[in-house]
Formats: sequence, structure tokens, C-alpha cells
Amino acid sequence: MCGIVAYLGSKDAYPILINGLYKLEYRGYDSAGVALIDNKLSVYKTKGKVSKLDKFVEDKNTNGFIGIAHTRWATHGEPNKENAHPHYSMNKKIAIIHNGIIENYPTLKEELKGRGYRFDSETDTEVLANLIEDVMHNESCSLQDAVLIALNQVVGAYALVVISEEEPDMLIAARKGSPMVIGIGDDDYYIASDATPIIEYTKNVVYMNDEEIAILKKGQPLKIKTIANQDKTPYVQELEFNLNTLEKGGYEHFMLKEIYEQPSSIRDSLRGRLRAKEGVVSLGGIVDFEQKIVHANKIIMIACGTSWHACLVGEYLFEDLARIPVEVEYASEFRYRNPIITENDVVIAVSQSGETADTLAAIDLAKEKGATVLGVCNVVGSSISRATHAGSYTHAGPEIGVASTKAFTAQVTVLTMMALRMAQLKGTIPTSRFMQILHEMEAIPDKVEEVLNDGGVAQMIAEKYKDATNFLYLGRGYNFPVALEGALKLKEISYIHAEGYPAAEMKHGPIALIDKNMPVVFIATNNVIYEKVVSNIQEVKARNGKVIAIVTKGDKVVRGLADYVIEIPETEDMLVPLLASIPLQKLAYYIAVMRGCNVDQPRNLAKSVTVE
Ligand code: F6R
Repeated sequence: MCGIVAYLGSKDAYPILINGLYKLEYRGYDSAGVALIDNKLSVYKTKGKVSKLDKFVEDKNTNGFIGIAHTRWATHGEPNKENAHPHYSMNKKIAIIHNGIIENYPTLKEELKGRGYRFDSETDTEVLANLIEDVMHNESCSLQDAVLIALNQVVGAYALVVISEEEPDMLIAARKGSPMVIGIGDDDYYIASDATPIIEYTKNVVYMNDEEIAILKKGQPLKIKTIANQDKTPYVQELEFNLNTLEKGGYEHFMLKEIYEQPSSIRDSLRGRLRAKEGVVSLGGIVDFEQKIVHANKIIMIACGTSWHACLVGEYLFEDLARIPVEVEYASEFRYRNPIITENDVVIAVSQSGETADTLAAIDLAKEKGATVLGVCNVVGSSISRATHAGSYTHAGPEIGVASTKAFTAQVTVLTMMALRMAQLKGTIPTSRFMQILHEMEAIPDKVEEVLNDGGVAQMIAEKYKDATNFLYLGRGYNFPVALEGALKLKEISYIHAEGYPAAEMKHGPIALIDKNMPVVFIATNNVIYEKVVSNIQEVKARNGKVIAIVTKGDKVVRGLADYVIEIPETEDMLVPLLASIPLQKLAYYIAVMRGCNVDQPRNLAKSVTVE
């Protein structure tokens, strides 16, 4: 987590850095800081959000054509001013920003203390700053060499940028396990955790690889080396996304904008891949691996959080359609187990950011065991997209709101297309049925539009239940992952405790929670287990629980039982998650707003979880 930005060139660095930090605030907002060189190196930092830093520096000298800046999600040390980045080295000549964790920092710190170094913070990063100073001093070497030598002593993960008052026309960046992009302008350089702060200045970027160091010197071409000191040729790519996608576009929050973008984000996921009339569904990125998937012993899907919920939908889809056994694993658990994986297994890693540390580690483990590993990522060029053998992008566009919405529906869209294609290749689905699902899939974006235009029902229900302290979300079959996702959305942005359960499991425990104060959200759409879910609703009503139900348009039975219903259009059961998740996103959004919560930046969370 943490967002880093750096600039070197002929423009004023501060406005570029602070705007970059605002764009990266989704990666953490515990504290923020900036370091600039205007003859002298100055570091300014504050606890709290980027706006506090911006205010704090109003009366300070923010001149300079080189600088680094950071917005933090605390790992080592509480989120106070001392622990905020950038960190000076002890002689105050060097400043560093860092995203990641230096695992052997306690040992390094003790050694440095023994050599007389003092520390102002509890962070692992300050240790690195002093280690670089120490190397420079002992070896009488340049900043570039000192960073290289220091990093060879470090165990852990990092994306970092270092500047020195003694070499004021140079940025040194390094990456291992945390993302970093370099933007190449006409006569300037930009560095950031992702491309969003860079895009307005240049479209030419280099995504750094693990164990690489970049040397950016004014007026000189970009140099990249490995930390083993071998020269590499920088691979310059052109960025494709549009600046407008990074703005709120008239919406009060990114989350709301992203919820409303879903008709178009799903369309973008489908574009060029699904052509119902021709009976074609094809994902270019995995074409070479189709036979591998079709003949797989089993598929293992790995992910975290919302992406894990998308995998659960994927499990049902692959089993139903392609008859391939699927296991869905939390990446964080999988990486520390001794999972049974063979070369005949296919692992599908699903991630919006493509940077989630646990998912990356799980990918490494699966690769070590010889499995084929495919990725389903949203962020183009992200670490996961590059660590996997192949994959398909979700093409949902940048997701800025911390709570994932359009990325989830895009992930489900891609997994549905994959499962359909495998079913077609494997011959596990009659052609007429295949065609029917393809047509229905093509109609989903319009149906999502219909769901979004709910005439204010979600808002009205939010008003009614905004003060509840607990919520239960229940669904069965394809609607079980939707229940989990609905509960996660509510708890992460409104801080109301919410649990998702398979509806039939209610009687094995959660039913004890039900009383007149407990809102229970049922996803009770028309399917083969509809009657069973109706019985579960009756069980809740018999205990005076309040029922909010997502139902298929025209439903009468549940309408007669529930306190509130939200209708969604009729569709294939397997496509219901694409529609039913949307009112739950809206419900969570409105409840959070009514409770005065910061929906785009909920407390303690960050958009990409690049630490364990
Ligand atoms: C919830 C949410 C998180 C992420 C999880 C995985 O709204 O956004 O649960 O889904 O941190 O992140 P990615 O998909 O980037 O790997």
C-alpha cells in the first residue's frame, strides 16, 4: 500500500507531487509528506490526509524542480507525523519514500545504532535511509552505488525513491514486490505507484520490474540496472487510458460514479470478446492456454476480498457449464499451506489492482509447483498481470473508490466468458443453450442500466435502516457469493457489522441473532431453490426480523412477505450476480453517506493491499 510520487525536471515539483498524492490517496491516507530540494533538502509531513499536508506547507518554501512525496498506509509504527514519509537520513542530506516492508530492519537498525545512528521514527524506512548514508560514508561512493549496495543487504519488499541534497539533479528508484511506474516527459521524469498521477503529463511509461534500480538524471536518458548491477534496456510503453476516467464526473463520490459506470464497464469487458449472433466467445489473452484449461485436472482460483467473491461465482460457472472441478482459495491462506497442485492444474488469480501481495505470493507458489497460472486483472501492466503465464484484463477502467464495485462485475463477466468458452470447447453444453446464454449475456449491460434506475428504492431503504447495528445477507447458489459481497460492501464503508451466509445455513446458528432490530437482506430471485429461500424468509419473519429482498421483476410471493423489495429484471440464474450485486452496492453506499462516512476512503483501508 502507500502511494509514492516523484518528479525531476524543469517545472515546479510541488504542484505535480501534491496532485499526484491526491490521486494516490486511495492507497493509504494515514499521513502524507513531501521532500523538495531548493539548494537545501527540506521535508514536510503531517498526520492525516493529503489536504492537511497541502495546508501545512502553505507558509513553507515549496520551491524546487525535484521532489518526492508519499501518502502512507501504516505498517510499522502508528500513523503519526514522525512515522510519515519521506524519511531523512541522520545527516539530513538524503530523503527516501518507500512502499513495502523491510523485513530485516530490526537487525540493520541495531547494527546502525552500534555505529552511532539515531532514529526519529519507528519505521523500517528510516533504517534504509541511514543505511544508504552509512554506505555513502564508508565507501565514499555516489548515491546510485550506495542505494545498490544497501539494497543488497535488505530482505523484504519495496518500491522506493531516494534523493540527495548532494546530487540534486537525480532520482534513484528501486522496485521489488511493490509497483512503480516511470513517466518519461520531454525533459522531465515522473515516478508513481501507478500511472494515474503521470497520465496528464506524458503517455510514455516504463513499468519497473522486480529487483530493478532506475537512475533518473536531468538531461540524461533513463538508466535501468538490476540490483545485481547488470544494465537493462528500459521498455517504454504507451499508456492508453483516458484522463476523464480519473475524475468524479459530477458524482459526489468515485464509488457512486463507479456503480453507475457498470453498464459501460461490463460492455467494455464484453467488447470484441462476445458476439452472440455469431456464437462467438473468445478471450484473446488466454487462447494459447485454452486446451490446458479444458484438460485441467482442476482449476484453483485464488484471490482476496471482493475478488475472492467473484471467484466463488466463477466456481459455480465452471462447474455448471464446463464441468471442470474448481477450488476457490483465499490467496493469504493458500500461500502458507502445502497445497496439492500438479502440472495438470490451472490456477486463475483474480485481482482488480494486480498488486495484492498475498495473491502475488500465491501465484509464485503455484508456479513453483508447475501449475499454469492465468490472471484476471483490471490494472494493465500490474504485477499480477506480469507474473502470470497469460490472462485476460477485465477492462473496467480505473477504479478509485476503495470499495470495489465495477471491478467485481467485470471480473464476473470475464469468468463467465471463460467458463462459456471452456464449455463450448469441451462440448459440455448444447449449442442452442450456449447461444441462449450468449444472447442473455449481451443483454446484461442494458439490464444493469434498468437496475440502476430503481426510482430511489435503495435510498429509501437506506434511510430506514441506516441506524441498524447489524445486518445479515442471505442467498443460495449463485446468490450466496452475492450475499457475501453485499455484506462486505456494507461493513467496509458504513462500519456496520454485516455477515453473509448461505441462506440454508441460517438455521445452524445465525437464526439466533434474529429479532425485530435485525435487517436481513435476501437475494431471492427466481431459480430452482426459490421456494427454499421463501421458507427461509418465512423463518425470519416468524422471528420478527426485517426482510429486504432482491427479487425477480414481477415476483409476488416474496413481495407479500418482505418489508421491502428491490426488483431486478429476469435473467439466467448464472448471470444474476451481475444484476443483484448492484442494488446491494447502492444500499451500502447510501447507508454510508447517511451515516456521514467517507465512502471513497473508509477508515483503515487502502485500495491495493501490497503488504501481507
Ligand atoms: C473490497 C475490496 C477488497 C479487494 C481486495 C483484493 O471492496 O476492494 O476486498 O477486493 O483487497 O484486491 P485486488 O482485487 O486488487 O486483488
